[in-house]
Amino acid sequence: MRSPEIVAWNKVRLGVEVLDRVLPSGVYRNSLIILAGPGGAGKSVLVAHMTKALMEREEPVIYVALDDDPRTVLQNYISFKIDVAQLIKRELLMIIDCFSYRLGHPRPAVNGVIREVEPDELERLPYTIIDVVLEKELRGRGLVVVDSLNELLLLYNEKTTVEVLRKLRALIAKGEGILVFATLHTSTDDQQKFLRSIEHLVDGVIEVWVTDETGPGDSAVRKLMVRKMKGVHHVSRPIRFYVDAEGPKLIE
Ligand SMILES: Nc1ncnc2c1ncn2[C@@H]1O[C@H](COP(=O)(O)OP(=O)(O)OP(=O)(O)O)[C@@H](O)[C@H]1O
Ligand SMILES: [Mg+2]
Repeated sequence: MRSPEIVAWNKVRLGVEVLDRVLPSGVYRNSLIILAGPGGAGKSVLVAHMTKALMEREEPVIYVALDDDPRTVLQNYISFKIDVAQLIKRELLMIIDCFSYRLGHPRPAVNGVIREVEPDELERLPYTIIDVVLEKELRGRGLVVVDSLNELLLLYNEKTTVEVLRKLRALIAKGEGILVFATLHTSTDDQQKFLRSIEHLVDGVIEVWVTDETGPGDSAVRKLMVRKMKGVHHVSRPIRFYVDAEGPKLIE
């Protein structure tokens, strides 16, 4: 008789100084982590640099673009001089486009887009991702970014969004051992309340926000705090950072 598969997924360092400072030993691969904060807090900047660090270590990234069209997603990388063309060519960066249906047909193809999803298919998003995971043989490596959960909240109700989130965690993080980062805008009280209501369903919650303080080069001082992270040591106080043309920088 075959013995049951015992899988202890290894940990992965996120590769961005700001995040490595608060999560010094990394996070478990089979985690679903929420990156929450108000608009402009720095979520997409952190995601761009974390995914860059992972792709530099040959870890493929599936970017589920919900809030922005694929060109805007690529522009965010290009604004930090990240060579997206090369990453796309090597199939390290793959975009699932859940935005462009708004533009109607026909529309020009955008480099890096491997799937297009219509709103009525969004409930099946976890299975669309699984399709890609199987096709590209991604089990146990890489990262899935869902940017953002708010689009699901706008299109569906909270119950359906929670169901999609549960499936993302079960199928992709737990089932395939692939790290999932989902962003959530928390500008309103309702969005804050939603975050509190899903905290127990996820493996980690990281919050970012902008302070009134001014940092180097007149930039805004931002703060980041790990609210929860299952199974690993984390610094549980806020740390300060700013963003410049090179990316997020830790303020000691
Ligand atoms: N290339 C860049 N150079 C310098 N600063 C930048 C650059 N890109 C972004 N920023 C700064 O970082 C801030 C945070 O942007 P980011 O897109 O990460 O916010 P966000 O939390 O994802 O917001 P949203 O909820 O609207 O998606 C921007 O407002 C801008 O000040
Ligand atoms: Mg963003």
